[in-house]
Amino acid sequence: MSRVFQLAFLLLSLAVCLSTQHATRDAQTVLAAGPPHRNVTKSIAIVGAGSGGLAVLKTLLDLPEEVRSSWEFALYEQHRDVGGLWLPDPNPPHPPALPETPLYPRLRTNTPHPTMTYPGFTFRPGTPLFPTHNYVQQYHADFAEHFNLSSYIHLNHTVLATGWRGNNTHGEWVVDVEYDLGTKVYRRSFDHLIVANGHNHYPRIPHWPGEEDWLASSPTREILHSIFYRNPERYTNQTVIVVGGGASGRDAALQIGPLAKTYQSLREGSVPPDGAQVTVKPPISHFTNTSVVFEDGTSLTSVDSLVLATGYEFRVPFLAQSPPTSGIVSPALEVAPSTTANSTTAQVLTSNLRYIFPLYEHIFSLSPAHPPTALAFVGLPVLIANCPSDRAQALLVAHAIADPTILPSRDGMFTALLRREDNMRQRGYDPYVYGHKMVGGDTEAQDYQNALVRYLKQHGKLPDDGKDYVESWRKASRVHSALLARGWTRIESEGEQQKWLEGVETEDEWADLMQRLAAWQEEWENEHGQGLDEYAAV
Ligand SMILES: Cc1cc2nc3c(=O)[nH]c(=O)nc-3n(C[C@H](O)[C@H](O)[C@H](O)COP(=O)(O)OP(=O)(O)OC[C@H]3O[C@@H](n4cnc5c(N)ncnc54)[C@H](O)[C@@H]3O)c2cc1C
Ligand SMILES: *[C@@H]1O[C@H](CO)[C@@H](O)[C@H](O)[C@H]1NC(C)=O
Ligand SMILES: *[C@@H]1O[C@H](CO)[C@@H](O)[C@H](O)[C@H]1NC(C)=O
Ligand SMILES: *[C@@H]1O[C@H](CO)[C@@H](O)[C@H](O)[C@H]1NC(C)=O
Ligand SMILES: *[C@@H]1O[C@H](CO)[C@@H](O)[C@H](O)[C@H]1NC(C)=O
Ligand SMILES: *[C@@H]1O[C@H](CO)[C@@H](O)[C@H](O)[C@H]1NC(C)=O
Ligand SMILES: *[C@@H]1O[C@H](CO)[C@@H](O)[C@H](O)[C@H]1NC(C)=O
Ligand SMILES: *[C@@H]1O[C@H](CO)[C@@H](O)[C@H](O)[C@H]1NC(C)=O
Repeated sequence: MSRVFQLAFLLLSLAVCLSTQHATRDAQTVLAAGPPHRNVTKSIAIVGAGSGGLAVLKTLLDLPEEVRSSWEFALYEQHRDVGGLWLPDPNPPHPPALPETPLYPRLRTNTPHPTMTYPGFTFRPGTPLFPTHNYVQQYHADFAEHFNLSSYIHLNHTVLATGWRGNNTHGEWVVDVEYDLGTKVYRRSFDHLIVANGHNHYPRIPHWPGEEDWLASSPTREILHSIFYRNPERYTNQTVIVVGGGASGRDAALQIGPLAKTYQSLREGSVPPDGAQVTVKPPISHFTNTSVVFEDGTSLTSVDSLVLATGYEFRVPFLAQSPPTSGIVSPALEVAPSTTANSTTAQVLTSNLRYIFPLYEHIFSLSPAHPPTALAFVGLPVLIANCPSDRAQALLVAHAIADPTILPSRDGMFTALLRREDNMRQRGYDPYVYGHKMVGGDTEAQDYQNALVRYLKQHGKLPDDGKDYVESWRKASRVHSALLARGWTRIESEGEQQKWLEGVETEDEWADLMQRLAAWQEEWENEHGQGLDEYAAV
């Protein structure tokens, strides 16, 4: 051991010792971390080791060595492993305490996995085209391992509170991190904070008049959000209303339908999934002591359970909560569900629970409190294939942190944001309601990613190969997602998976498989019609 190392080791041991002593005295004592042991020129904290956080970490490490060699990275993940919502909760608590993830045992992807990947990194050979959730968690773990990310990832570490100490050009984040099974907390400062905490963790729970009395009138009645949904068997022989027609509502309707008398309450224009054994009802209007009444005046008595597949709220508790220390003016994020603040008037970054604003390109905070690159979000867009989008966002984040001059001026970013919001309004979508949803479908989702990457090419940060970022095979397979799902289900019912998956390893081979499958299924459907309702349960 060199003398320097010995000294460093001694100091480290001392620090650990002190922290242990401290912690036994007072489990929640906040400890000041010492100065960094290397000559660090930039420190970056990432929160979350799901698709978004892993993409950011990998992309930062991809920066040229001469750019990032003196940077320091820490990715904090509160759970025991990477994978985000694809990591099962081993001990889901009783409602209303929230589980770690909405994941349920029968969850499979609703998109073919080759379209869900980080570019250039495929799922393992042999993975079914619409895999169960465990394959997706494995994919994230494989990614972290392959790119040697784990030494930067602090598992079982929860970011509790953060606050900006500084002004709109200079400053630092003060970050409180809880570790050791929640018994200890330390405090550290960072130059940049990247938030990838996911947005499927805080249920949006609507309430209706009369609901409390309806529940109180029978001890067995229940209203639960889909975040608590695990197994359809518990609904056997009940009368159930599934509220909502998004991905969660579709899955719940398909799975509960065969076991219970099932209704699906849907907004006008929404339809139940193919093959669901449900009766469609309009939105709920109110409850009486005995029945659930719908907006068309019809009602149902003898309802036992409601499954609210009503979506999630955009919350970032550790941004809305500042560490108890001086110099921090106000929480970095205000939660204001019903104010009239908008991107123009907000004096602080705001979540109205559907939309976080003002953000440039759904990424950089335009809060007047700090420089735009100080706070970035990755993974906010909804209705998009996450891994590729996370990677495109991460590229912009990494290059903008390395060289903030590539970003437009603050005013320029504001103008771009207002233009985007206006564009949504013109298409009939209130940006403060639809928020980060790619309402224009896959075209908008892909245009968004292409534009982020094209911007970096135009600014000389990436080689310009003249191609779109989203590959044409990925585009084609998203268009054919439902056809591919029907085809794959047919293959599974015939037990032919192995034959199709044989020798398929590279991205090109997966693309080819999807192309062959689409053609094969299309031909069959041309002959037999699409009458595949019993297969459409993917
Ligand atoms: C039920 C369901 C099914 C889905 N199926 C599909 C699908 O088939 N295809 C598809 O393309 N997309 C699907 N999605 C979309 C999904 O959002 C993405 O696939 C993606 O995995 C989300 O990744 P993320 O990193 O943004 O968020 P998450 O996976 O939620 O990861 C966020 C991470 O941040 C951590 N974290 C949060 N707060 C803190 C803190 N304070 N301190 C430390 N760590 C913290 C969390 O523990 C978590 O690990 C599905 C979503 C849901 C809810
Ligand atoms: C540490 O970084 C500073 C600023 O970049 C530089 O001036 C100094 O020489 C560096 N010290 C060492 C020991 O590398
Ligand atoms: C994280 O905590 C779990 C218990 O919740 C434990 O089993 C695991 O070993 C811990 N992992 C790390 C890396 O600390
Ligand atoms: C990961 O680390 C191993 C061992 O240090 C090395 O051989 C390998 O090339 C690294 N992989 C990547 C993708 O950097
Ligand atoms: C912001 O803080 C820096 C560092 O403390 C200081 O030099 C600068 O003058 C401040 N800017 C404003 C506008 O106050
Ligand atoms: C409805 O139920 C509530 C709670 O059980 C009860 O207090 C109330 O009297 C009931 N109302 C009627 C009209 O039965
Ligand atoms: C559901 O009802 C059927 C038919 O009445 C009965 O055979 C079955 O045991 C019931 N299952 C449960 C779990 O109650
Ligand atoms: C924001 O709100 C202000 C005040 O209500 C209003 O004048 C302005 O038009 C709004 N701007 C946008 C972009 O919604």
